[in-house]
Amino acid sequence: MGRLEALLAAMTLEEKIGQLTMAAADRAVTGPVVPGDSRAGIRAGRIGGMLNLWGAEPARAIQRMAVEESRLGVPLLLGFDVVHGHRTIFPIPLAEAAGFDPALWERTARQAAVEATGDGVALTFAPMLDVARDPRWGRIAEGPGEDPWLASRFAEAKVRGFQGSDLKDAGSLAAAAKHFCAYGAATAGLDYASVDVSERLLHEVYLPPFQAAVAAGCAAIMPAFNDIAGVPMTANVPLLRDWLRGQTGFDGVVISDYNAIAELVRHGVASDLIEAAALALKAGVDIDMVSEAYRRGLPAALERGLVEMAEIDAATLRVLTLKERLGLFDDPYRPGASSAARNSSEAAARRDLAREAARRAIVVLTNSGILPLAAGARRIALVGPMANARADMRGPWSGAGEADDPVTILEGLRAALPDCEIVFAEGVGIDGKDIDGIPEAVAACRSADVILMCLGEAAAMSGEAACRANPGLPGRQRQLAEAALEIGKPVAALLSSGRPLIAPWLVERADAVVATWFLGSEAGNAIADVVTCRFNPTGRLPVTWPRDIGQAPIYYSARPSGRPADPKDHFTSKYLDIPVEPQFPFGHGLSYSRLTLTNLRASAETFKPGEDILAAVDVINEGAVAGEATVFLFVRDVVARVARPLLELKGVAKIVLAPGERGVVRLPVPAAAFAYPNADFQPAIEPGRFELSVGLSADRASLLTISIFAVAA
Ligand code: NOJ
Repeated sequence: MGRLEALLAAMTLEEKIGQLTMAAADRAVTGPVVPGDSRAGIRAGRIGGMLNLWGAEPARAIQRMAVEESRLGVPLLLGFDVVHGHRTIFPIPLAEAAGFDPALWERTARQAAVEATGDGVALTFAPMLDVARDPRWGRIAEGPGEDPWLASRFAEAKVRGFQGSDLKDAGSLAAAAKHFCAYGAATAGLDYASVDVSERLLHEVYLPPFQAAVAAGCAAIMPAFNDIAGVPMTANVPLLRDWLRGQTGFDGVVISDYNAIAELVRHGVASDLIEAAALALKAGVDIDMVSEAYRRGLPAALERGLVEMAEIDAATLRVLTLKERLGLFDDPYRPGASSAARNSSEAAARRDLAREAARRAIVVLTNSGILPLAAGARRIALVGPMANARADMRGPWSGAGEADDPVTILEGLRAALPDCEIVFAEGVGIDGKDIDGIPEAVAACRSADVILMCLGEAAAMSGEAACRANPGLPGRQRQLAEAALEIGKPVAALLSSGRPLIAPWLVERADAVVATWFLGSEAGNAIADVVTCRFNPTGRLPVTWPRDIGQAPIYYSARPSGRPADPKDHFTSKYLDIPVEPQFPFGHGLSYSRLTLTNLRASAETFKPGEDILAAVDVINEGAVAGEATVFLFVRDVVARVARPLLELKGVAKIVLAPGERGVVRLPVPAAAFAYPNADFQPAIEPGRFELSVGLSADRASLLTISIFAVAA
């Protein structure tokens, strides 16, 4: 018998259930507050894990209680939401996704893990992999955007970064991919609302990122709060047991979301905690996060025969196995011992990394030439409520990041432009309630050569339980912006947000509009780098940006329709009151260079299913500054038994070019890129014509396209 089996054999039922119970500390509040003192529970072996507690000393103290004062001395599993940085805050995931840079995503996750483990954390509730296509949903901020291929690459990179090559290493954090699954498809973009997606959509869009996370060795998975067609994910046997454990072979830990097991009662699928506990355990949920349903319900469920001891044992063993993989039995204080978190040169390198990730996240949406700021500009008016909104720069889910840590836009610009006079006027508050400074802001604008407007939403306006039916500029910001635009000076708008913000009037009237999201600790410096061209922007939209909220949900990979939009033909797929096109397509983002693509070719015109193809395209920098091109590769299966999307992203490549330089970008198209889920939802390739397209965005009018043919094997 191995160490863990022996431990299991020595446990009482209460101690086993203790391993399946995670309690909340109150250092952070990430759900409804649950009363109660956990110390007695830890000493009695009734609590096996804690969340929302960090700091080397508090972590050590609580761990000591479990190890030295409980009967069996099993160490605790300490979990925390390290979503985009722990103390050093990196851009929100939606923004980081705009970098289209897996190596960078991995590096930021690694550094977040170094800091979090230095604070005693062993498990992060991340990466968040919810494909999201509706900007009303506040949690669009926390994930990598609308596309399953992109989300899958994000999943792999984040799991690699958090976990490293061995969970036992100092600086390695167990990852819990969440929220499994289709949470982002919440009806009408409303958090916690019911989801009803087809099995096909699950297999094409919502499951692949989790498949990728599992393949990368992700230690844990968190089921989502939502139900899918009436079956809550916390009790979803087909998806948790059959697909996740059965088909992907996932053998890690499934940890419920906060209070989610007890919420099965409110969902209306269990009449009490006993039934709720049984449903979750049967579906394969190992750890109950804070709901107490396992502690209070499982003993009775066992007595009534709703669950078997073997199921409790299997779940307990999975939790113990994770603790062992983390090295906690050999050194329960191991995560707190990481010195890299405190080493000052590493801390400085982390700041540099935060700046690099932040500037790569910035997406220049429009620019008539006002950016980069002319060297001759002497006086800049910096107006708007986001210019000095330090704490908000962290965005939602900012871990242990301190409110006074981020560099503001005002500070970043002042540091970058010491010879320039920067006149700051807030103008209005974010929500429009307190400040009436429009006249002062207008005066500042009149006296300036150029106006930078820092607009957006507060950090708390995106993230969990932060949906907005009208995700435009809140409060009186439009009034401020229009007053500034009236003056007739050049105006650039910088938008801080956790989602695409709907402001077509601004796009139409401002000389430049830049999506700066929530960029974290180095926000102001990164923004200054881009507006001054110290860094030539390269960020691209990981989500389609709508022009009107009536277009949501919106995404580039739509199916063709039998009546595609045609303004000249009434009976086609269009709106009467707005254009059908988005404001900006997926992948859109401007550079200060003029990058063009030409001469798309493929390694073969015909291929047999199972064979890879190599595409290549020439890229030319016709601009005056060196720049980086991000080239997207899309595939379309033109005729198939099930209509395929007009475009599906299958590859991304980058190239840096000097002014006037021409280079070749090669994009491997693996055989799997031509497959789609067949009637049994297994990947299959149908013979026939495929279109390969490349472009600088998903705008179909500007793609280069060639046809290649799959021939029967
Ligand atoms: C609820 C959120 O849905 C989840 O993402 C998070 O990990 C937990 N709360 C814990 O904070």
